[in-house]
Amino acid sequence: MTLPRILAIETSCDDTSVATLEGFQVRSNVVYTQVLHEQYGGVVPELASRAHMEALVPTVESALKKAGWALKDVDAVAVTQGPGLLGSLLVGHSYAKSLALSIGAPLVNVHHMEAHMLAHFLVEPGIQETAIPGFPYLCLTVSGGHTQLVVVHDWNQFEVLGETQDDAVGEAFDKAAKLLSLAYPGGPVIDRLAQSGQAKFSFAQPQVPALTFSYSGLKTSILRSMQARSKEVPATLTDEVADWCASIQAALIQPLLKGLQEASQQTGIKRIALAGGVSANSHLRQACQTLAAEHNWDLYLPPLSYTTDNAAMVGAAGFFAYQHQRFGSMSSAATARMHD
Ligand code: KG4
Ligand code: ZN
Repeated sequence: MTLPRILAIETSCDDTSVATLEGFQVRSNVVYTQVLHEQYGGVVPELASRAHMEALVPTVESALKKAGWALKDVDAVAVTQGPGLLGSLLVGHSYAKSLALSIGAPLVNVHHMEAHMLAHFLVEPGIQETAIPGFPYLCLTVSGGHTQLVVVHDWNQFEVLGETQDDAVGEAFDKAAKLLSLAYPGGPVIDRLAQSGQAKFSFAQPQVPALTFSYSGLKTSILRSMQARSKEVPATLTDEVADWCASIQAALIQPLLKGLQEASQQTGIKRIALAGGVSANSHLRQACQTLAAEHNWDLYLPPLSYTTDNAAMVGAAGFFAYQHQRFGSMSSAATARMHD
């Protein structure tokens, strides 16, 4: 059986990404990150959609070229329908619909967070050497917009056991980095600086029901700790930035580890996966490896290139839908909020 050739498009936030796949096998995965948002310390929606408009066609061309494909070779067009920034989604979704129509290929609508969780099925010789999880698996889904514990029962069956009651953990990383005057997005910067620091500061941890999270109070708590510290010793924030990063990182990751252990205990599921941008975090990955050894988990860590937003994961979700003939109609529309 020849595998379908899927062109996948992701434009939900500030990355314009296009991938080509044969089934789950990635032939190319081009990610154009819009660096223009750095100067504003966060994503500016209007600028993001404009940048997607400029970048999308060249990104499609680049992904096709890397795979050695022409548009006529494409059997299906998979695209992120939501959730995300509406203006950004609209650019990718409208383009995908027109493309599908013009080449006579079916359209596959993909849920962005489901795509993150299905990235584990991607196969890329040399990079993806880890095993593929069987269903069901427990997925800690952590990104700039989501913090969830999900049982993935099947490719289209996701049970959210618990989630954040306010901010997402990635958002908390970015806000904390801003307090330290670090670059946007703050998660990777905190991760890097934390490597040479000690987690010597502690913050008030919120009291929340099991399997849920809360990150909105952390910013205030960090500020209070910083104020208290400056009274104690005349050290400046910059002198101790690595220690602040290590402390913030530990405080943000700790509830995730606790939640994962509780969820695994409650469900009896020992196939554990991480997904989303924050799953690139080195401390989280290491801590999960330690827990996996302790609790006998089969741990699935996504390759770094499939943690943050990318179109290959949209292709993986798209291939599942393709196999089950779940195609989108030309009247389907991008949506900022989508079912969980
Ligand atoms: O999945 P993603 O690319 O986009 C969304 O769907 O939100 O996640 C982006 C988030 C940002 O908040 C970013 O700071 C965070 O992932 N992130 C990290 C790391 N790399 C990206 N957070 C902590 N450590 C990292 N190494
Ligand atoms: Zn994402």
